[in-house]
Amino acid sequence: MKVQNPPALLSMVKVFAPAKINLSLHVTGQRNDGYHLLDSLVAFVDVGDQVTAEAAQHTSLTVEGPFAQGVPTDGSNLVVKAAEACGYPMALTLDKHLPPSSGIGGGSADAAAALRAAARLGGPLMGHDHALLLGADVPVCLASKSARMRGIGNDLVETPLPALHLVLVNPRVEVATPNVFKRLDRKDNAPMPDTLPEWPDSLAFVDWLGTQRNDLQEPAAKLAPEIAAVLVSLALSPDVLLTRMSGSGATCFAIYPDRATAQDAAAQISQSNPWWWVKAATTLP
Ligand code: C5P
Repeated sequence: MKVQNPPALLSMVKVFAPAKINLSLHVTGQRNDGYHLLDSLVAFVDVGDQVTAEAAQHTSLTVEGPFAQGVPTDGSNLVVKAAEACGYPMALTLDKHLPPSSGIGGGSADAAAALRAAARLGGPLMGHDHALLLGADVPVCLASKSARMRGIGNDLVETPLPALHLVLVNPRVEVATPNVFKRLDRKDNAPMPDTLPEWPDSLAFVDWLGTQRNDLQEPAAKLAPEIAAVLVSLALSPDVLLTRMSGSGATCFAIYPDRATAQDAAAQISQSNPWWWVKAATTLP
């Protein structure tokens, strides 16, 4: 996949870091280094974090926003690692709207946004191979275009998908990705078909998507039983077309025929479960 070169050099940039949704996630094998081979359809939505960046003498990070609490501001944050990896020091502000460790790529999206910010400020544009060293989901987030992701996240094919209207729900439970992978019964599950079908519209796509899976859903729900409660709540909402977990959880999504129905479902679920993080979202083109 091609990352477009930024047009102009600016002194301060704001970059949106959209949430990544694994519409399907098949675990098809494991490499000798322990990393798992995946076959996943990934989409991006209009809900996300925001990274603001200015060129500076040294890299620094300030975190604000609804999920700022507990997010590290030192070199352990993937955003700082990204700035350091591209060798372009920046004063960064991360406006954190996505729940951390929640299967929708928050940290990877933020790191990718920092890489895009560096390029827009005149720094280097990091390639996918280097971005992969920051994390398996960083390359797909760097492009932020719907894609089929294989390998450990390195093999990307841009895959245009029909627009989808979703509700995202996280029960405010953090799930550690390695623990979910460890709980997998089988690591040699079937991939998606080699050639994906053509979908005339969203309904045909969602019908097909129903025949695919997230292999991490069952092991994640064993670690965090709240996931099952979220999936039941989504499945009971009016006019829902499909429910599934994203990534290694705990965020789950449901697909609806239109934005208004998704917004109604989000309002109703949020009212019944005020503690949960609930957002209506639409996929980005
Ligand atoms: O690459 P990233 O830091 O996002 O991955 C977090 C952890 O998830 C890895 O340390 C690994 O345990 C697991 N993982 C995996 N196979 C992948 C991606 C992640 O086993 N393809």
